[in-house]
Amino acid sequence: MGQKQRKKQKRRTAKTADKHALYQLSVQDPAFEVHLANRYFRRRVGREPLSLREDFCGTALLCAEWVKSHPSRTALGVDIDPSVLAWGTEHVLSALDEGERARVTTVNGDVRDHHPERHDVVMALNYSYFCFKTRDTLRGYFATVREHLRPDGLFFLDLFGGWESQQILLEKRAVEDFTYVWDQAHFDPVTSDFRAHIHFRFADGTKLKEAFTYEWRLWTIPELRELLAEAGFGHVEVLWEEEDEVGQGTGTFKPREHADNDPGWNAYLLASVELPPRVAAKRAKRAEGG
Ligand SMILES: C[S@@+](CC[C@H](N)C(=O)[O-])C[C@H]1O[C@@H](n2cnc3c(N)ncnc32)[C@H](O)[C@@H]1O
Repeated sequence: MGQKQRKKQKRRTAKTADKHALYQLSVQDPAFEVHLANRYFRRRVGREPLSLREDFCGTALLCAEWVKSHPSRTALGVDIDPSVLAWGTEHVLSALDEGERARVTTVNGDVRDHHPERHDVVMALNYSYFCFKTRDTLRGYFATVREHLRPDGLFFLDLFGGWESQQILLEKRAVEDFTYVWDQAHFDPVTSDFRAHIHFRFADGTKLKEAFTYEWRLWTIPELRELLAEAGFGHVEVLWEEEDEVGQGTGTFKPREHADNDPGWNAYLLASVELPPRVAAKRAKRAEGG
């Protein structure tokens, strides 16, 4: 068989592709998120973060990356959909070695359910908590996160915004041998209700239409900061993406109290119950005139 034919045979189509694998390739970057947690935890708390709780974990890709990154690390993934957890067990957790596998637990349940364990880091990524559409439900979720954090723990969540986030639009991106399509289908300015789909298109013209659909409320940074404070988080930082000289995001996120208006942005919030030890020490030194 010629090289060309072999290549052709391997190309994904709507029939052969797996939507969870495509999703992971298109939108997830667990190595970056482990790096972010490491960097901020070490700087703010001054020790190695060991235990992670990944809320809305889906296929538990971040849990797997976390336990691979350090021999003492443990991860708990929580997701309400048993089918996505089963996919993760079969395709993601099965690729771990025995020791790593033993340090990951997944739970099928609602992230608002109470679990007794407390963690160094809780992460809620890819905007998943936007599914909570009222102040009460979102504050209730944040209060549960607070209960799941160790006293010096850090909670990371991401969000997006800017005027483009309210527009009806299609964004396409080539990924390996397929196209990822982000389809913003609906925004209601009265309620901030937002609907988006992910579609995948293939070189042979076939499509996986509405592979994923999200019904969210678009929350703003001030609203989230207020709700986190009401849920008992005494310190919340906004990590904003640095830009290069032509205004392109660099992938480096730094704390900011103000930012230039931008048509479409992604950011992280970093919340802790108390002032992180290193931030408290710096402030005390400054107050002493040191
Ligand atoms: C956007 S996906 C995020 C997957 C993954 N964490 C990521 O970063 O890409 C949202 C996930 O949240 C789960 N989910 C939605 N509501 C939930 C809830 N109340 N409790 C737990 N999981 C929930 C869905 O089943 C889905 O797997």
